[in-house]
Amino acid sequence: NIMILFGPPGAGKGTHGPKIEDMLAIPQLSTGDMLRAAVAAKTEVGLKAAAVMKAGGLVSDDIVIGIIRDRIREADCKFGFILDGFPRTLVQAKELDKMLSEEGACVTKVVELQVPDEVLEERICGRWIHKKSGRSYHVKYAPPKSMKKDGEGNPIPESMTDDETGEALMQRPDDTASALVKRLAGYHGETVPILKHYAPGGIVSEVNANQGMDGVWGEVLSALKRGG
Ligand code: AP5
Ligand code: ZN
Repeated sequence: NIMILFGPPGAGKGTHGPKIEDMLAIPQLSTGDMLRAAVAAKTEVGLKAAAVMKAGGLVSDDIVIGIIRDRIREADCKFGFILDGFPRTLVQAKELDKMLSEEGACVTKVVELQVPDEVLEERICGRWIHKKSGRSYHVKYAPPKSMKKDGEGNPIPESMTDDETGEALMQRPDDTASALVKRLAGYHGETVPILKHYAPGGIVSEVNANQGMDGVWGEVLSALKRGG
């Protein structure tokens, strides 16, 4: 089971990935989460990636390929894994194929979360995350239990805490309207072409991700059942 969760920024990869992880008992590997951890830890990779990420650009192929190569060799990936945010360029996709074929494996499923660009700004700009776990909330669609609003209806930042740990939530530095424009350009220019690379294998399933989260999850489940 080696699956790719595919979709634009705000599509719901981070929302549904952890649920697939629980269901199939294979880890979700998010290059975005790994890079944010590297930025927070100020590692060499983190120092290189921080500015690019904040502006909404793509981190170099060499860096992310290196991160994934190391990660999929770990013991918990032996029975498969869910890729979130990788591959993002044709170079990354081909390199992934190569890494997997060395182990006699290949990508078995691509779940494409389809959402029109117009709805993504509201999703991205309303998102708050729990940094340590990667859990994401939304001021309107998935508010934390603790959320309180001020007189104008805006969430009070101090009231935004994680349901499970009670720790503070934060907003991502790249979750701005201007960085989103750049992220979307990268998605359509560099990432969408990857779908053509996987289509001949008949492993791509499209999901309508422009509906409530439960509806999306139902379609993800049927996509997974369709095999591959
Ligand atoms: P990454 O972290 O991968 O960001 P992304 O691809 O832009 O995706 P997001 O995390 O924004 O979206 P998501 O689909 O996970 O949305 P979520 O479920 O949280 O990458 C960040 C950066 O790292 C990149 O820009 C790049 O710089 C770098 N990077 C990472 N991987 C790389 C690679 N391979 N190569 C090069 N660079 C790389 O949902 C969003 C919000 O909407 C949440 O608030 C959620 O609650 C809400 N929501 C979800 N579903 C619904 C719904 N159905 N209805 C209403 N609200 C919903
Ligand atoms: Zn994400």
